[in-house]
Amino acid sequence: MNQLIRLLIIALAFVSCQEKSSKSDYIEQRVEEILSKMSLQEKVGQTSLRGTSSRVKGDLSEDLKNAVRNGEIGAFLNVMNPKYVDELQRIAVEESPNGIPLIFARDIIHGYKTIFPIPLGMAASWNAEVAETSARVSAIEAAESGIRWTFSPMLDIARDARWGRIAESPGEDPYLASVLATAFIKGYQGDSLNSENSMIACAKHFLAYGAAEGGRDYNTTIVNEELLRNVYLPPFKAAFDAGAQTVMSSFNDINGVPASGNKFILKKILRDEYNFDGFVVSDWNSVTEMIPHGYAKDDKHAAERAITAGLDMEMTSTSYEDYLLALMDEGKVTEEQLNDFVRNILRVKFRMGLFENPYREKVDASRWYAQSHLEAAKEAAVKSTVLLKNNKTLPLNKNQRIALIGPLADAPVDQLGTWTFDGDGNYSVTPKQAFAENKYKFVFAEGLKYSRDKSSAGFKKAIAAAEKSDVIVFIGGEEAILSGEAHSRADISLPGAQEQLIDALHKTGKPLVLVIMAGRPIALGNIMDKVDAIVMAWHPGTMAGPALYDILNGKAQPEGRLPVTWPKQGAQCPIYYNHPNTGRPASADSFVGINDIPVGAWQSSLGNNSHYLDLGFEPQFPFGYGLNYGEIEYEKTIVSSGKLRRNETIQVSCTLHNKGNYPITETVQLYIQDVVGDIVRPVKELKGFKKIRIAKGESVSAEFTISTKDLEYVDSSMNYVVEDGDFNVWIAPNSAEGIKASFELIE
Ligand code: NOJ
Repeated sequence: MNQLIRLLIIALAFVSCQEKSSKSDYIEQRVEEILSKMSLQEKVGQTSLRGTSSRVKGDLSEDLKNAVRNGEIGAFLNVMNPKYVDELQRIAVEESPNGIPLIFARDIIHGYKTIFPIPLGMAASWNAEVAETSARVSAIEAAESGIRWTFSPMLDIARDARWGRIAESPGEDPYLASVLATAFIKGYQGDSLNSENSMIACAKHFLAYGAAEGGRDYNTTIVNEELLRNVYLPPFKAAFDAGAQTVMSSFNDINGVPASGNKFILKKILRDEYNFDGFVVSDWNSVTEMIPHGYAKDDKHAAERAITAGLDMEMTSTSYEDYLLALMDEGKVTEEQLNDFVRNILRVKFRMGLFENPYREKVDASRWYAQSHLEAAKEAAVKSTVLLKNNKTLPLNKNQRIALIGPLADAPVDQLGTWTFDGDGNYSVTPKQAFAENKYKFVFAEGLKYSRDKSSAGFKKAIAAAEKSDVIVFIGGEEAILSGEAHSRADISLPGAQEQLIDALHKTGKPLVLVIMAGRPIALGNIMDKVDAIVMAWHPGTMAGPALYDILNGKAQPEGRLPVTWPKQGAQCPIYYNHPNTGRPASADSFVGINDIPVGAWQSSLGNNSHYLDLGFEPQFPFGYGLNYGEIEYEKTIVSSGKLRRNETIQVSCTLHNKGNYPITETVQLYIQDVVGDIVRPVKELKGFKKIRIAKGESVSAEFTISTKDLEYVDSSMNYVVEDGDFNVWIAPNSAEGIKASFELIE
């Protein structure tokens, strides 16, 4: 680069920095100006997020309007009529004491009208573009209803398939989750926060909500600080670095302190370490839920705990509104604490451009379900689909007669998945519709009316359909209501009589393809050997049908990879690939199973290691797993040098051969193990991945650069460290394969 260009770049960067800082100076000045004019009541009002249930569609009451008129409310949740949004905003801006605009929020989790795959599905795409586009489309559609704040993305690391909210999570891996977090924030917030088509994002749930004991929702979490920092925090940090404006405190207690009253996470980590300058919102009633937690004796005490912890805005419960001023009179909290909350909230309102541009002048409903949005949703569904098993049954070919069976083959609402209040099933294209639209020869017999249906009344028709066909495609899984918030399951196998129906279909002797639509990995032990192919579609959203049609017929290649370890049964949970090794690691060589133990055996460990006698130690499918229609071969991992010096890098590479009959987009994964650490280190950790297109018959080299930054972790003194010593490295198709290489980090 010549000197002149370099100088120009530096000058431009300087100007943009100056612009940014003068804009933020201006905002800070305006915030202080308004703050100085606000009454105490009005300040408290800013901390109040009023919400109705997502189902309520009633009119606005005079009381509510008066509350806005008096400046008693800062934001609303679930006001879904654009006319009401407009009316309330006009009252706030034109009639309240300081004309402070409201923010309107909604849970827009995986699409507003056009529904994308559930977040766990989108995580399976291992594709930041898919995540970003889904969020952009959501923002464009929701902004038409005046919604400028979404309670998304959910960034809870989830290691337990029993937990219903695994469906909303980015999976089990902090690296993958961080990549997705950045993409979601960019997509929701767009290029400019003050564009009328941008929604502010809310990184949730802070913190460790996914570690709920036993996978039971809202349950207590016990997570040591190293684990918090190495596993649960990185996706949040990525979201803040990408500019997330808000963060939601979670329902759970962490090591005994509920998140909404947790100074350590809300102050020390969020403000002191991360310098977060947006605002913290509680979860729904999570402030007053500190009473049943046993952390507050009444609403007033709950308010005191939350205020002291630094929680800026209270969702739905009204303890701030009811008691903040009294607490101030009693000297338990200070006006300066309240001022800080208001500053944080007003700052974000300014950044959103709400003071200059508070209204949505007209609603353009043609943006909902726009053709380009439907195409993006289809692409996301295609890219999220994971092929788990294939005994040469897929792809199908059009000469085959298909028996299309199963409770989710034509379930327009259930295919949308959890927490989709605004997506309309009438816009869904189901697999049955997609087969019909493509003039496919198929017979449809659902067999079961819904996923939990236990009746075998429909079996006969389904079996007859199967007998007349060349291939059976069974689309089953879970209804949308079986995953998501407060929908944990202990037994994660296919509900209802689905296994029995699969068994009956298997007995016809026809090749059987199982397509799963579900919010979590499903235990497959009883049916694994009865099906010839398994496709995990998650809940794919509005365009499930066309996406699956393309995958099943080979018009699109399955590219998805598991973002979570897939257990054999719920009883194996929590299960995750990046676990410590233990002093007695399980291995196939030493494994003694329940049926191998001699009757009357001497009381001893029998040489057994860390495993279950009956379930072993391996999952059904490892993290990162997914098949292609073709065949891909990885050669050994090669390191450019066996020694890595600090401040230098080494190259790691691997040659891949596409030996099959299709072009493939392979998700090449880089894993590293720090062999000895100040605290025990995981057996391996994902440190990078790449999508590589490999033409049929072609060989390519996949390369990664490793620097010391990739080796960093938080040690027992809570310091980010990189320790000298040995590291193992794999370039691999998933977390269980690949050929290991090693290097040493030296001074
Ligand atoms: C409770 C959920 O935990 C949270 O994720 C959601 O945003 C709020 N309810 C609002 O609906």
